[in-house]
Amino acid sequence: MAYENIVLEITDHVGVIRLDRPDKLNALNEGLRCELIDALANLDANDDVRCLILTGSARVFSAGADIKEMNDKAFVDMFKGDAFGAETQAFGQLRKVIIAAVAGHALGGGCELAMMCDIIIAADNATFGQPEINIGVMAGLGGTQRLTRAVGKSKSMEMHLTGRRMNAQEAMTAGLVSRVVPVNDLMTETMDVAAKIAEKSPLAVMAVKEAVNRAEELSLREGLLYERRLFHSLFSTEDKVEGMSAFVDRREPKFRNC
Ligand code: COA
Repeated sequence: MAYENIVLEITDHVGVIRLDRPDKLNALNEGLRCELIDALANLDANDDVRCLILTGSARVFSAGADIKEMNDKAFVDMFKGDAFGAETQAFGQLRKVIIAAVAGHALGGGCELAMMCDIIIAADNATFGQPEINIGVMAGLGGTQRLTRAVGKSKSMEMHLTGRRMNAQEAMTAGLVSRVVPVNDLMTETMDVAAKIAEKSPLAVMAVKEAVNRAEELSLREGLLYERRLFHSLFSTEDKVEGMSAFVDRREPKFRNC
């Protein structure tokens, strides 16, 4: 698929997807959403890629679903087409780690896209919000569920009900993002984190992602058992043998994804 609304680059085992509809503040029109789904699947299937980054520009991550495109849509259109179901599925199926590098606005679907990633790193100019209430609707790409899990009920309710935006510092304090960095360092810092993940055993990385994501869905008892079984299963990998031998031999491990 040729990409017109995103830019895809692979550097040192890291696949970077940059949302690129600058004149519309990376609003998520159908074209962009299809390209994003395609890019996620391609990078996930590419053995050369060990970690993904989703980003926008220094001014905007994404201003959310394309309001002009939705303007003449009715319930039947949205329901029949299961609007945003495919995006939810694409992120849900992604086995590799994806980091959102967020500068500027991350509003509505933009905030939700960031929250569908595994880690959010925010630039100091980032703002997060769910302003759908201002246009007579509500979040539809996971916002009421993921923001609530991330920051708790009260703040989530306030954000969704008033449309208020959170700045990067508040998002950090609330636990929505893992760190805040100067906007000019956003990509370098995010690439650093991605590079660290890319040098680990991909099998162990996938297992960690699965286990941490289960924490939001399983009871503690089931989650602990799930984690323990995954931990046991990693003892069948060559990467485990390599990682532990390297430690004993006081050298850097060379993981081979097997
Ligand atoms: N959908 C469609 N187009 C959008 C958009 C969206 N969600 N957000 C911004 N744009 C477009 C604007 O229509 C404008 O296009 P135009 O020049 O063809 O008119 C362009 O992007 C620039 O936006 P503008 O509003 O002029 O920029 P701003 O800097 O004054 O304001 C925002 C930035 C993000 C505060 C403002 O654009 C906004 O509130 N956007 C909507 C956010 C939202 O409600 N998202 C949830 C959608 S469900």
